[in-house]
Amino acid sequence: MYKSCEIFFMSGTGNSYRTATWMAETAKNRGIKSRLHQIFKDSDDKEEGTDLIGVVFPTHGFTAPWQVIRFTIKLPPGKGKHAFVAATRAGTRVASIPLPGMEGTAGYLIALLLMVKGYIVRGVMGLDMPSNWMSLHWGLNPENSMFIIRRAKIKADSFMETILAGNRKFKGILSLLLGLILSPISLAYLFIGRFFFAKLFFASGSCTGCGLCAKSCPIGAIKMTGGNKPRPYWTFSCESCMRCMGYCPNKAVESSHSFAIVLYFIASLPVSLYVLKSMRKFIPIEHCLFFFKITFDYIYKLISFFVAYLILSWLIRIPLFNKLCTYTTFTHLYRRYHEPDTALKDMELEEYSYDSPQKHKDG
Ligand SMILES: Cc1cc2nc3c(=O)[nH]c(=O)nc-3n(C[C@H](O)[C@H](O)[C@H](O)COP(=O)(O)O)c2cc1C
Ligand code: SF4
Ligand code: SF4
Repeated sequence: MYKSCEIFFMSGTGNSYRTATWMAETAKNRGIKSRLHQIFKDSDDKEEGTDLIGVVFPTHGFTAPWQVIRFTIKLPPGKGKHAFVAATRAGTRVASIPLPGMEGTAGYLIALLLMVKGYIVRGVMGLDMPSNWMSLHWGLNPENSMFIIRRAKIKADSFMETILAGNRKFKGILSLLLGLILSPISLAYLFIGRFFFAKLFFASGSCTGCGLCAKSCPIGAIKMTGGNKPRPYWTFSCESCMRCMGYCPNKAVESSHSFAIVLYFIASLPVSLYVLKSMRKFIPIEHCLFFFKITFDYIYKLISFFVAYLILSWLIRIPLFNKLCTYTTFTHLYRRYHEPDTALKDMELEEYSYDSPQKHKDG
């Protein structure tokens, strides 16, 4: 039914990359030329002359990551081409019992955007892969990870077979309903993830300054700073995808829980109230007080987080302070996770071809 298939994926720790490779392999086994494209920060679409596209990505905050939303919005008109969407989500396993994640609005939001762009969406699925949110919990052990991944492969293969056979498959309606109820949290996450969570990362004393994290960040969100002893600095464009944390060879990327408390305290200061009180003496702003308050709150938080993180990144170079931060975060104790069969170099390419026995376009 299809001649070619282009799959666009975003992946932090390899789960969505692995899912996309399974889907491309299934297409290839049916004699369908297929290619994978990694969604980078500035990636433009490569979707030319194909009759099926897929978008595969992790769930963040019960919805799709901003990078994927932006990428989908920028796709050219679909003109009736077929499309499918897969959102990987946080599967876990407690005492041999597998527990599902919740993709919320992730899959259907991207499906809706694709429909608006003129694509005919043939399938949507949420797929349990091992949870990678290492700022919150330790990484799953290899046995549990492999258990979840093996189950996921069966589901991904079956989904893809259905789509390639020309049928439709729409999964996760209950998750969508819960996602809609939780949509205020998802909306808040788009800001909190970027401006709060991303500002908790720091490199512990184990960092050698190798720069691998900066080089491999799919968003280019890490800058190496500091002359002959370089250190990673996390900018506001970080999507909290966990790649740097999952793949640092020295397990040096930490997410500071103690600094989270400091940031929370700074964010709670009623600065906008004082500013507005003084402003009202000079400018009549009563009629749009709410608007001014929201705007000031936002600007204040942004600037204060930026300044606080700048101070942290200077202080973190002092070994004693670094130790203090390192030993007051749980991530120091957490096992790191990345998809067990996915090396960092596997995700380096922007484009992968599945129309020949060669796995990667560049060899
Ligand atoms: C910041 C962040 C937020 C997440 N939010 C959710 C969520 O709301 N629901 C869920 O089921 N999984 C959530 N996850 C888990 C990931 O979606 C899941 O582990 C995914 O498979 C990771 O894929 P990747 O390795 O391709 O990045 C979150 C992970 C991170 C890092
Ligand atoms: S945090 Fe890790 S990957 Fe990044 S520079 Fe330091 S050692 Fe290298
Ligand atoms: S800085 Fe780390 S967590 Fe943030 S987007 Fe880059 S690799 Fe992902």
